Amino acid sequence: MSDYSEKLRLAAEDAGRIAAQFLPENKGLAGELLESMAYSVNNGGKRLRPVLLRESFHENGGEPELEKMLVEPYMAALEYIHSYSLVHDDLPEMDNDMYRRGKLTTHAKFGHAQGVLAGDGLLNYAYETAGKAFENALFSGNETALRRTVKAFNVLTNKAGAYGMVGGQSVDVALTGKSIDPPTLEYIYENKTSALIEAALMIGGILAGADDDRIAILEKIGSACGRAFQIKDDILDETGTLEEIGKPVHSDVNNNKTTYVTLFGLEKAEKDAGALCVKAEEMLKTFSTSDSFLSWLIAYMTKRVK
Ligand code: IPE
Ligand code: IPE
Ligand code: MG
Ligand code: MG
Ligand code: MG
Repeated sequence: MSDYSEKLRLAAEDAGRIAAQFLPENKGLAGELLESMAYSVNNGGKRLRPVLLRESFHENGGEPELEKMLVEPYMAALEYIHSYSLVHDDLPEMDNDMYRRGKLTTHAKFGHAQGVLAGDGLLNYAYETAGKAFENALFSGNETALRRTVKAFNVLTNKAGAYGMVGGQSVDVALTGKSIDPPTLEYIYENKTSALIEAALMIGGILAGADDDRIAILEKIGSACGRAFQIKDDILDETGTLEEIGKPVHSDVNNNKTTYVTLFGLEKAEKDAGALCVKAEEMLKTFSTSDSFLSWLIAYMTKRVK
């Protein structure tokens, strides 16, 4: 396997640049809102979802002229939705965390109300940003691009919503402090975490013109990868340090959460996360080589230390 660490560093840097570039201008009276939105997006993060989106586009043979037109707005939109999900996840009513990516969380810095509004602002602005892809496709007269954009938009909105990330977070919160059986925990992980990773891989494929069978495989890869990613997140909550992961450790135990680790123990969690990644890599092999960057990224989901 090639060492793609440097490639990931550059791709993440580029995704961060794209996310920063689409942010709204800070003008008018709502300066604190715009500042808190920019703070939430620009404070680092691994940028895995936009990196996966672009890499799925490449791996599915996307045309280079569509990168700026369609792919970049969708990369920014997805990262905004992810950022907003974290801002709200950290709120006192949810996980009540004060640190994220080594810095104060948005509500800790700007106050609770602005934390709620920064999230609302980012979610709304994510769809405005995806709208730029529609505009670009329409004005270039590229009907194929327009059709792909419509399809991608449906996936983005669906995976972010009540039957996706928000639904998963709702069940996570509703069952905090209660015992959870394995199928329910799987439902939570599939929705709160896998949904946006599925969106990344599917949108990359859709914008590249992949057919429905391929999109279905990408969704399954995202599902396995996302669950592995969340299990690794639970493991790092136990075994990491604030310096390494940039967020408080033992947040889950302090919040009385049932996680994969509390349910099955660290050893089985490591083993099962690894197995889910192998499953995802196997599915990827149906159309990509085992030494591709995308395959490395999937393995990285559980090998990561932050
Ligand atoms: C954190 O996601 C939330 C989970 C789904 C576990 P990331 O670990 O991708 O967060 P950042 O963007 O790198 O900070
Ligand atoms: C949150 O899961 C997933 C989201 C959709 C935000 P966690 O609550 O475990 O994420 P962290 O550990 O705070 O990043
Ligand atoms: Mg949470
Ligand atoms: Mg949390
Ligand atoms: Mg966590």
